[in-house]
Amino acid sequence: MKTISLFLIGLLLLTGASAAVSAEKKEQTDSRIKELISKMTLEEKLGQMSQFDPGQLGGPENAKQAIKDGKVGSILNLVGASAVNDLQKVAVEESRLGIPLIIARDVIHGYQTIMPIPLGLAASWNAEVAEDAMAVAAAEAASEGIHWTFAPMIDVSRDPRWGRIAESCGEDTYLTSVMAKAMVKGFQGDDLSNPKTIAACAKHFVGYGAAEGGRDYNTTLIPEVQLRNDYLPPFKAAADAGVATFMSAFNDLNGVPTSGNEFTLKQILRQEWGYNGMVVSDWASIAEMIPHGYAANKKEAAERALTAGVDMEMASDCYVGNVQALLDEGKIDMATIDRYVTNILRLKFELGLFERPYTDEALAEKTILTEKHKEIAQQAASESFVLLQNKNEILPLSNEISSVAVIGPLADSPHDQMGTWVFDGKKENSVTPLTALTEKLGDAKVNFAKGLKISRTKSTEGFAEAVEAAEKSDVVLLFLGEESILSGEAHSLANLNLQGRQTELLEAVKATGRPVVLVIMAGRQLTIERELKLADAVLYTWHPGTMGGPAIADMLFGETVPSGKLPVTFPKTVGQIPIYYNHKNTGRPADYEQWTDINKIPAEATQHSLGNTSHYLDAGFEPLLPFGFGLSYSSFAYSNLELSSNTMGAEGAIEVSVDLKNTGKYEAAEVVQLYIRDRFGSVTRPVKQLKGYKKITLKPGETQKVSIVLKAKDLEFFNGKDYVVEAGDFDVWMGTNSKEGLHAEFSIN
Ligand code: NOJ
Repeated sequence: MKTISLFLIGLLLLTGASAAVSAEKKEQTDSRIKELISKMTLEEKLGQMSQFDPGQLGGPENAKQAIKDGKVGSILNLVGASAVNDLQKVAVEESRLGIPLIIARDVIHGYQTIMPIPLGLAASWNAEVAEDAMAVAAAEAASEGIHWTFAPMIDVSRDPRWGRIAESCGEDTYLTSVMAKAMVKGFQGDDLSNPKTIAACAKHFVGYGAAEGGRDYNTTLIPEVQLRNDYLPPFKAAADAGVATFMSAFNDLNGVPTSGNEFTLKQILRQEWGYNGMVVSDWASIAEMIPHGYAANKKEAAERALTAGVDMEMASDCYVGNVQALLDEGKIDMATIDRYVTNILRLKFELGLFERPYTDEALAEKTILTEKHKEIAQQAASESFVLLQNKNEILPLSNEISSVAVIGPLADSPHDQMGTWVFDGKKENSVTPLTALTEKLGDAKVNFAKGLKISRTKSTEGFAEAVEAAEKSDVVLLFLGEESILSGEAHSLANLNLQGRQTELLEAVKATGRPVVLVIMAGRQLTIERELKLADAVLYTWHPGTMGGPAIADMLFGETVPSGKLPVTFPKTVGQIPIYYNHKNTGRPADYEQWTDINKIPAEATQHSLGNTSHYLDAGFEPLLPFGFGLSYSSFAYSNLELSSNTMGAEGAIEVSVDLKNTGKYEAAEVVQLYIRDRFGSVTRPVKQLKGYKKITLKPGETQKVSIVLKAKDLEFFNGKDYVVEAGDFDVWMGTNSKEGLHAEFSIN
């Protein structure tokens, strides 16, 4: 007892002491910032508020003069410790005030050890996986002189036509919020001044993922209720997790471009959330307010962005050229400019750049692509794979198999498996499925034929060789999907079927009578209804990164067991988009009894609408695969859904639990998902909402009680006026995906 209290007293003293130290440090930093600002000319202040690519400054050598003159505070897209140190030296030793540069880069899902695309990381439903992946990315990037990444992208994305869905955590607000926190933690760690961490950036603030028709950069119209309930929470989660920066977006939100949007940047971010980090614009998004039709010229664009609260301008020069005039005209004041410079300098201090401006040039070699990093990448890839189908339990394959055909344009495509937004990963470091399978089984057992050169190839001249390889083998492993360049920024698609002749290749190898295991690598969910019918098993691997090959080979042969779940709904056809699980019920919800199948409508039928519901005549109302779906080699039984109470107060909480049993043959992990429905509200509520989940590993035959605490506060929503927890009746489900689950009811009183 005595020991415990002495320990507690010690702990309290220590905590108190460290709080005092950090308060003192903050004070010192604040006064250093004040002092610096008092010495700065307007030109130097605007320099701090400007970020350029060295190319825009005439290359790194020419950039030196601008840096020396204090005209640049941040550089993006410069890599390599020595190149960074070279410019940093000019900033620190030759510029008048010696303020270090902050070097930024899009380190989205890995630096050189490439992790699965963020959509894949989200499919792991494992926050630790996402955190570890980003910690690796941070350490590698930092070793090459990078201080700041433009990630995570936490735009809720419900339209797979949008190429940037690959960079997102999918369609769900809760899952994206969980991943947002984990990724921020991974990049930033606990201390930004640690040489292994970098500053993160919550982007794109806000609503960018809702671009009309999935066309990148397009208009977004999001009512405030939906903005606050669906799109803002991941950003709030990132802010609460201490994300160092935010990025304003390209999109016009309800008529006001987000880089000049006072409602989102000033009212919500600064005033409501009290965020005191730094805000950067997206690339030239301040100048783009001109083509948006929101500013007549750069001066007006600068005024709008400054009034809304963008601290740093990326890649355009609206601030530099116009702030003096705006000050002279009284359109903005110097206190505002000083506040923005303060936000920027504070980040530089937090990163330790004033104390440690240079990067150790020997660090990269010890840090990049280490065995440990590759292990983490492989584990992340493995957890991101989603098993969509496994007829006759064809998977896992036995090592005893005498031969496999490895076919398809993505079986050996080291570049494409890395996915979108890879500037620094090198294809030479990717281990492809072909390499990994050959290593596992030996050359003699692998019959390889590409069938198609790339995913879009129109010629079928490789089919004969592919069919021959299939005929020689016990099983076909067919690698289809999309090349990395077909997703990502400005790479939207109107057609989500497999590109080129890939489905025909599947038909051709299927016609040999060999079982076909289809592995799909893609940056988004594709419309694969036909392929699901044709293939015996389907493993969806997204773009899995550097270690995708070994992760796939191990899974196909049962050394690992699939545990990923879909972070997005799979539509049957593009015409169903947007289709997502947490939609509203409508006044005429669809059901099978009232669904009018186009094939059953008689000729010359008379027009009527009674009894009709919200559906498509030709595609029904259900997706191909629901959000949260994913199979395992094992099987799980859910029983005994229990609630610690059937009622709770507005401040209360209940525990929801279920018995989960591994009823199959393999040790495996299952993501137990908790959904609720708020039956009635002062504004209509979605039919289901994910409110919690746990990923649990069980041995065959093992049962575990899985409990999730649901707080009344988790059920809060914005009703147009206020954030409210409303009394009333709720449904709750706990189960294996958004469609299936055990059901109970509770109420808030
Ligand atoms: C534009 C993209 O929208 C943004 O996400 C990225 O960080 C910047 N370019 C910088 O490359």
